[in-house]
Amino acid sequence: MLSTPENRRYQQVLSDLRQTRRHWLITGVAGFVGSNLLETLLKLGQRVTGLDNLMTGYRANLAQVRAVVPSSAWANFDFIEGDIRCLDSCRRACQGVDVVLHQAALGSVGRSIADPILTSDVNLIGFLNVLVAARDARVRRVVYAASSATYGDHPDLPKVEEHIGRPLSPYALTKHVNEVYAEMFARCYALDAIGLRYFNVFGPRQDPRGEYAAVIPQWFYAMIHNHPLHINGDGDSSRDFCFVDNVVQANLLAALVGDTAAVNQVYNVAVNARTSLNELYAMMHALLAGRFAHLQDYKPEYGAFRAGDVRHSQADISKAARLLGYQPTHRLEQGLREALDWYVAHLGAPRA
Ligand SMILES: NC(=O)c1ccc[n+]([C@@H]2O[C@H](COP(=O)([O-])OP(=O)(O)OC[C@H]3O[C@@H](n4cnc5c(N)ncnc54)[C@H](O)[C@@H]3O)[C@@H](O)[C@H]2O)c1
Repeated sequence: MLSTPENRRYQQVLSDLRQTRRHWLITGVAGFVGSNLLETLLKLGQRVTGLDNLMTGYRANLAQVRAVVPSSAWANFDFIEGDIRCLDSCRRACQGVDVVLHQAALGSVGRSIADPILTSDVNLIGFLNVLVAARDARVRRVVYAASSATYGDHPDLPKVEEHIGRPLSPYALTKHVNEVYAEMFARCYALDAIGLRYFNVFGPRQDPRGEYAAVIPQWFYAMIHNHPLHINGDGDSSRDFCFVDNVVQANLLAALVGDTAAVNQVYNVAVNARTSLNELYAMMHALLAGRFAHLQDYKPEYGAFRAGDVRHSQADISKAARLLGYQPTHRLEQGLREALDWYVAHLGAPRA
């Protein structure tokens, strides 16, 4: 990571963590974001408890973290296979914890439209259980994954935290209700909580499989294996793609920020750049074409727009910069290069 004057606050946080061991709970630790948080915290010598029911996460993600951290660091990790919908599991996981990084949820707009009850059960009841368990265990702070989906049909660009629209999917609604719950817990129980509205995160260990996979891992998979690649709509829809290292940074800054004005707030976490799907395709194709000869004549297929998707998305990140000291270290292309190395190494050789 680049060390610049702009990310001085993050450098201070990293150096504080190297000197002082805290006990963290990562819910959803076997998932994409959770396992990246785990890797960073263990490398910093922290003690971590992880809670996951392996619904969309994998033991293989944990095994990959184990392979890249010193064995003494791995000994500081305890994994609990359990469900956030079970209050007792949340209580057990919160014992002696200083900071909760809550990532467990059912993602995907499409899945929530197909099964609103399951998404609401996990994302609402599960979230409430985590808050109650954290409150009762006197956890110092809960940092939770919120979502850009909360902006719903609000037309403004870039998105500013205070201006949200109506939800376009059950998933979006659950993520917004999480924020309202956290705010209410701050008021009623003096719980410290910070919500991070992630925008289209990507990076190593993001699952390329299944109908609910995110666009970047899905396209890496399709291109590497010479499968058809589908673009939903005309390709002009745009997103603020955010490399996972930026998300890890935002979590650690939020976990340790001392300024009371910064606590019990929600923040956009992205880059403040907008890339259309057509531009993303061109970028990924250019990166991969040098490695895979079958991509010479490869072309995407265009299909219908997906229900519940917003047309454009871009984050104003000035609030996170001002109050947390957040400065993204990776823009899209740099993140794609790092993710590509991982996907090529882990998705196997392309078929003939
Ligand atoms: N990836 C993105 O682009 C993005 C964008 C906005 C918000 N988010 C949010 O970030 C968080 C992490 O997302 P991700 O991309 O790492 O997803 P992921 O599916 O890879 O990880 C989620 C993890 O939570 C676990 N989980 C699900 N239900 C659970 C339950 N009932 N009990 C315990 N564990 C459970 C899953 O097994 C999985 O390991 C989620 O809250 C998601 O809504 C992600």
